[in-house]
Amino acid sequence: MSKIHVIDHPMIQHKLTIMRDKETGPKDFRQLLNEISLLMGYEITREIPLEEVEIETPICKTTAKRVLGRKMAIIPILRAGLGMVEGLLDLVPVAKVGHIGLYRNEKTHEPVVYYCKLPEDIDDRFVIVTDPMLATGGSSCDALQMLKDRGCTNIKLMCLVAAPEGIKKVQEAHPDVDIYVAAIDEKLNENAYIVPGLGDAGDRIFGTK
Ligand code: PRP
Ligand code: URA
Repeated sequence: MSKIHVIDHPMIQHKLTIMRDKETGPKDFRQLLNEISLLMGYEITREIPLEEVEIETPICKTTAKRVLGRKMAIIPILRAGLGMVEGLLDLVPVAKVGHIGLYRNEKTHEPVVYYCKLPEDIDDRFVIVTDPMLATGGSSCDALQMLKDRGCTNIKLMCLVAAPEGIKKVQEAHPDVDIYVAAIDEKLNENAYIVPGLGDAGDRIFGTK
């Protein structure tokens, strides 16, 4: 069974509370999502591979550790996952970025794929899939399967807010994928929105409603 990591540092909780508030507009919402993504990225990259390199300090020659950043890929699920990319790139600027386009059918709540562009060597990379909302789990499960079909074996899922239903679905379908969230909310409502949640993340990031 995959692990669920709740990264509930006080600064993350504080920023998330402002994001949840319906009065927070797209500019602040985006900014806060960036900031939280960077803070969460710090924890997600805890096990990122390091290499030994030889360097020379002003005092002497020595060996030191350096991140194998070129081995990382960030894969946002469009649209809302885009809001978590910049914060991660601030941490690992050389990571490659692929895109998976999925939207939920409003009636069935089933995900529909409309785009997929991934780095060629994606199967060789440590992959972080980003999507702020893990609701029924359908979108994340499908995105994870698309990556596995391309040979990926080292994947983590980074979300902001998750419903218990979505966590269960991902854990059952992808027991090898650890999930990182800032908060686990109470439940889904009749429209499969997270309660209390923060509304439609894509619309709040891009101001489309
Ligand atoms: C939202 C969200 C997730 C998905 C979560 O995307 O960003 O991708 O719903 O729901 P699920 O866990 O039930 O699949 P949406 O379909 O609204 O598309 P958008 O990001 O383009 O707005
Ligand atoms: N997608 C969102 O953006 N928010 C939810 O609460 C559920 C799905």
